Amino acid sequence: MPDVHRALPVRRLAPTFMGEIEDFQISEPSVAEHRDAILGAFLDHKVIVLRDQRITPDELAAFGAIFGEPDPHHIVAMRHPDRAELTILSNQDEIGRNPQLKTLGSGWHSDYSYKAIPAAATLLLGVEVPSHGGDTLFADAAAAFSDLPEARKAELRGLRVRHQHRWMPDRSHPGARWNVLTEAEQAATPEVIHPLVRRHPETGVESLFIAPCLLAGLKGIEGMDESRGLALLEELGEHIVSPKYVYRHVWKPFDVVVWDNRCTNHRATTDQLPSSQVRRMYRITTKGTSPIPA
Ligand code: OGA
Ligand code: MN
Repeated sequence: MPDVHRALPVRRLAPTFMGEIEDFQISEPSVAEHRDAILGAFLDHKVIVLRDQRITPDELAAFGAIFGEPDPHHIVAMRHPDRAELTILSNQDEIGRNPQLKTLGSGWHSDYSYKAIPAAATLLLGVEVPSHGGDTLFADAAAAFSDLPEARKAELRGLRVRHQHRWMPDRSHPGARWNVLTEAEQAATPEVIHPLVRRHPETGVESLFIAPCLLAGLKGIEGMDESRGLALLEELGEHIVSPKYVYRHVWKPFDVVVWDNRCTNHRATTDQLPSSQVRRMYRITTKGTSPIPA
């Protein structure tokens, strides 16, 4: 990797992934100067953490541009009213939002896996974080694939997964697409099919590409009996989130965390957070590329 790595001290937080970039303040000059090193750290560690970043939405957007072009949240009510590329996560009642959205992301997933072009990176800035709880969990889906026996890897390569945003077997579930999305949002989220094992477009590393939480919109495996497909996805999901591959990020105010959706999964824990503990985050998600089959 290039020498620029030396310019930024990165501390590994978990055995196979997670890097904390220390002594770095996000600002326009620093971002311009260290762009390659930041991107290199992101690709090497899959998730990067930067503490104590008292930055404005403009600075977050300038930092986000390192990781790609912003892709506004598909659910319009999640967007910042004046800046579509900025999503505001909140566990409080927000005007015009379905209360289901207060716990957005509280099941293992990869952002926008239900889109034809899924996300590359997601950045979160902790604007208001609880004193306890509301942690974010991350799992290394590339390490989980790499540890599988060779014969098993060979079986999985070539399979394709059916995804659809908030599809659930029980249509009456309050979080299901028919109850949360507007008609336009439903029309904009048809079923999409992605490889079960994808090759990272920049590092070339293979990774499982699913949402380990089946309720996050997995419909099955193409050409496979539905219950068999879902059982396989469930088994792989459990493997990805085994403790060996999981890291818990405990938020402090003004943390910035950036994760690579192409090789990791994550989940919020706001479903377990009392609403007296206010949690508000700014988020930017960047547009990836069509997943490359392994
Ligand atoms: C997201 C998400 C996790 C969290 O914004 O995509 O999953 O802890 N957030 O809020
Ligand atoms: Mn998410």
